Amino acid sequence: MSKPIYLDYNATCPCDPRVVTAMMNSYSDTIGNASSSTHLYGWTAQHHVKKSREAVAELIGAKESQILFNSGATEANNAILTAVAQHYQNEGCHIITSQIEHKCILQCCSYLESLGCELSYLPVNSDGHICLDHLDQYLRPNTRLLSIMAANNETGVIQNIDLCSKWAKKHGILFHTDAAQLIGKVPFNIQHFSIDFMSFSSHKFYGPKGIGAIYAKDFSLLIEHPFIWGGTQEYGARSGTLNVQGIVGFAEAARIAKAELSDESKRISRMKESFVSMIHKSIPNLIYNGNITDTLPGSLNFYIPNIASKDLLSLLRRDLAISTGSACTSATQEPSHVLRAMGLSDEECKSSLRLSFGRYTREEDLEDVVRYLVNALQKLSPSHYNNRKCA
Ligand SMILES: Cc1ncc(COP(=O)(O)O)c(C=O)c1O
Repeated sequence: MSKPIYLDYNATCPCDPRVVTAMMNSYSDTIGNASSSTHLYGWTAQHHVKKSREAVAELIGAKESQILFNSGATEANNAILTAVAQHYQNEGCHIITSQIEHKCILQCCSYLESLGCELSYLPVNSDGHICLDHLDQYLRPNTRLLSIMAANNETGVIQNIDLCSKWAKKHGILFHTDAAQLIGKVPFNIQHFSIDFMSFSSHKFYGPKGIGAIYAKDFSLLIEHPFIWGGTQEYGARSGTLNVQGIVGFAEAARIAKAELSDESKRISRMKESFVSMIHKSIPNLIYNGNITDTLPGSLNFYIPNIASKDLLSLLRRDLAISTGSACTSATQEPSHVLRAMGLSDEECKSSLRLSFGRYTREEDLEDVVRYLVNALQKLSPSHYNNRKCA
């Protein structure tokens, strides 16, 4: 039986076989603990971690000393927000974020609110861009941090982090961006922005899962308020035996992205454009959620009026691996907080689907994807779709 076509690259990417090879080699060659400083095995592991840190730093234009390895963007976001809140708790801490952040930011913010931290949540336009026009209105004397995602995981809409970072700098506020969806998918250089902290994750660009990094202009705040206590790893800011093989895989994914992502992002964007024109002919009543040009190359989010996405997904499950939104909330029946914030009704949210293309999506798959969608719609609403031809 053939497997469903994978179109859920925003949830996670398959590991690139070159990454798998690098990790397999590392499993046999590098047996030591990177913190062991008394023997060859430890030094070898340290050497590989150092080389990997350089490669990951290079992907984003940072220095090796500005990269801290951890388990991924969820941990990074929690660690950064918590450290800022702890640092300023006595003088008062106000954080500005947005309504459409990933749940790992929003739930961490709720927790910090319960501890007395003040939070403001910026609204979003109907096209998926966070409203930044009235940022000044949110400013308070105790505002310490602005935390805005670089690209949204559901709509793929790319946010204006240049404006955010300049605004934060002007007001002497720290700026953090959750760039889990952006890094490794589009060219990015941290030197072009004034970013204090950035979270990113290996599995979003064909590296292994469970490994990621914090970029920090300066780590002192995270060292002062570690998220995980213990040894001295990662400058004491994040203890725990380093996941050497994960780090090696992360670095290999970063090297591949650095070399290939400029061409790859163009190829994936072109593929999305052809898909949009094919689907428009076959399903003209489909409505896009958010801007479809200022988005990640492979990201699409749309709804088909009066068709519940759960019904569509149950018919498509053997042929297509797609989702209704974030993987972390896919088990809940709650309408997406992102689409709701953009002004969609509950009904429209519940009719929405997210498709994300990536490295292994083939041009020739697209016709099949449209055909599967149209066939499923014909079953769900024969009177409406029976005369539709596939593109
Ligand atoms: C925007 C965003 N932030 C954070 C995360 C969490 O990343 P990780 O899986 O590395 O913990 C994700 C993953 O879906 C994401 O899309």
